[in-house]
Amino acid sequence: MAIHKVGVVGCGLMGSGIAQVSAQAGFPTVVREVSSELVDKGLKGIEKNLSRLVEKGSLTEAAKNEIRGRLTGVTSISELKDCDVVIEAIIEQLPAKRELFTELDKLCPPHTIFASNTSSLTITEIAAATKRPQRFVGLHFFNPVPIMKLVEVVRTIATDPAVYEEMIAFGAKLGKTPVHANDSGGFIVNRLLVPYLLDAIRALEEGVGSVVDIDNSMKLGCGYPMGPFTLLDFVGLDTTYYIAQIMFDEFKEKRFAAPPLLKRMVLAGWHGKKSGRGFYDYSDPANPKPMSL
Ligand code: CAA
Repeated sequence: MAIHKVGVVGCGLMGSGIAQVSAQAGFPTVVREVSSELVDKGLKGIEKNLSRLVEKGSLTEAAKNEIRGRLTGVTSISELKDCDVVIEAIIEQLPAKRELFTELDKLCPPHTIFASNTSSLTITEIAAATKRPQRFVGLHFFNPVPIMKLVEVVRTIATDPAVYEEMIAFGAKLGKTPVHANDSGGFIVNRLLVPYLLDAIRALEEGVGSVVDIDNSMKLGCGYPMGPFTLLDFVGLDTTYYIAQIMFDEFKEKRFAAPPLLKRMVLAGWHGKKSGRGFYDYSDPANPKPMSL
């Protein structure tokens, strides 16, 4: 099956990144948000990213305009009815995702493949809201989507092997390196990353080292691009807390249990970089200062 048109639902951080790479890969791409303000905000972010590439000389102005021309922002879900693939990147809540896919299932032709960008929910449970679980996969991208080279392509026990291989090829067409992953909580990356991030918080709670010293240890000792606390703030503490809860619920293992400090920071509204405070204070964004915790 040839993929002519891609739909993306959600134009937030992840959805706009996915829409950008899809348009950059040459696919006419329709991206949907719930309001025209959110559509504009998402498209402006893409515009800014593309302009940065032009400034750096890695994209011509003409190529930028072509990419921009392949992107259409919409607010009505019915505009996705002729897409060959629809990728969902909305709020990480099962009922909202199931409701969306039930609607898409009625709208889209039988050949359309559905994908969810969920990082922790079970693909099987989302796919079960449709009559086409055999044409349903997970496509899990990483933040920032235009930069991070990986996409986890997730198959369930119901995914048709031909559809799955097509999505592996699609991931490569988007310029990503696809990895095969089964529908197990957190897939590959979060299965390993989440316990690591939670352990860094536990190390802090136990007084093993300070926020800055633990960050520097992993950055300079192991060559990680960001230390765990910088990464926690980047991913979002609310997001990490939510993922940890889902994974703990799935596996009932201590390594996925959210440490009390994380819970308290989320309750206090310290969600990381996006809220201005997390393990660091971002009052001066170029110079984050560690919080005293
Ligand atoms: N959007 C687009 N481009 C961006 C960007 C953004 N948000 N942030 C940085 N970039 C680009 C820069 O323009 C720059 O491009 P050039 O090399 O072409 O100049 C490049 O990325 C490097 O940026 P910087 O020099 O400013 O900073 P850096 O070297 O620290 O890199 C980073 C930034 C790529 C984010 C790097 O720190 C990194 O890889 N961090 C780890 C990110 C990570 O682990 N992401 C996965 C999170 S987990 C997840 O997403 C899934 C989940 O389920 C929780």
